[in-house]
Amino acid sequence: MKVDGINIRPIWLNPEDETLVSVIDQRMLPHELVIIDLKNLDDVIHAIKEMVVRGAPLIGATGAYGVYIITQELKNNVMNDSMLIEACDRLKSSRPTAVNLSWAVDDSLEEVLKGLTQSERVTIARNKASEITEFEADNCERIGQYGLKIVEEISKRKKGDTVNILTHCNAGWLACVEYGTATAPMYSAYDNGIDIHVWVDETRPLNQGARLTAWELGKHGIKHTVITDNAGGHLMQHGLVDLVLVGTDRTTYTGDVANKIGTYLKALAAKDNHVPFYVALPSSTFDWNVRDGVTEIPIEERDPDEIRFIQGKDNGTIKSVLVPPKDSPAGNYAFDVTPARLVTGFITERGICQANEDSIKKLFPEKF
Ligand code: MRU
Repeated sequence: MKVDGINIRPIWLNPEDETLVSVIDQRMLPHELVIIDLKNLDDVIHAIKEMVVRGAPLIGATGAYGVYIITQELKNNVMNDSMLIEACDRLKSSRPTAVNLSWAVDDSLEEVLKGLTQSERVTIARNKASEITEFEADNCERIGQYGLKIVEEISKRKKGDTVNILTHCNAGWLACVEYGTATAPMYSAYDNGIDIHVWVDETRPLNQGARLTAWELGKHGIKHTVITDNAGGHLMQHGLVDLVLVGTDRTTYTGDVANKIGTYLKALAAKDNHVPFYVALPSSTFDWNVRDGVTEIPIEERDPDEIRFIQGKDNGTIKSVLVPPKDSPAGNYAFDVTPARLVTGFITERGICQANEDSIKKLFPEKF
């Protein structure tokens, strides 16, 4: 996507030294656009854990580039399968909820193990990482095309009046390589001349909505308003939301959706107010092995300090300040699960389907 006229992605190979993987440090946005290089497996794990990179498809792409880095790092030992597998296991355990990470790492590892020489394995890993990255970019573009139809219909029904879309967290290009999942239909609608406005949940504790989604939408010229995480229900009751569009970190083949904490409450409010609630996702975010999202999807619990401290810019300096009493404990549940019955539909790279096993099966028969 373009930022101030320049094409940029959240991950790429450093053109000056293609052994290095360059990423945007998303912790510093929107105040500073900082790019860092990942050199070894520890760097990759740190980047995923500390959310230098985040968002399900991007975590997957980073995992695949992580396998590329592992093959280089192991150098003379890359033909030692058990060392390779062990390093990939470490990589996969860096964040538990988004299924894209294990999908991308396993897929890459399977290919790499077919390599017959050291250099062949490095090349396979590099090509695979690039393939997965392009696959996700392409998926998001298609999601945008299918999602456009939903926004178009609402716009027609409203006789061209502004379509108000509410989103939670950041399921934008920063999370996905290009276009985003939830944001792809927004970009398509805007680029096709549809009048849209986006309510952006700030998304505590790390404020991915206020920091990242607002930044992305603003750079594209899309009207948006940052709201508190608790404002959505009120806005829906007053007819100010036409559509809720969110992404997901893992969705079961039965249609239960894990996404950033607070998504479930948005879905409940949407149901109560007859507002369509759509989830946009690529096939890499489906978990084809999990039936019951609420009991089976692991929910990441992060450092309580992410809740206790809030980061912002003051007088040109990025600062972190304490919010609650210094001795109050905090609990940082990073994701929740929205049951399939609250989801109007899925927007995927193969089209739109309902949130149930039969409908998902029709779009992805080879996965069952
Ligand atoms: O903790 P994060 O920032 O990685 O969580 C991201 C989300 O919850 C996104 O909504 C999800 O990954 C979908 S990304 C297209």
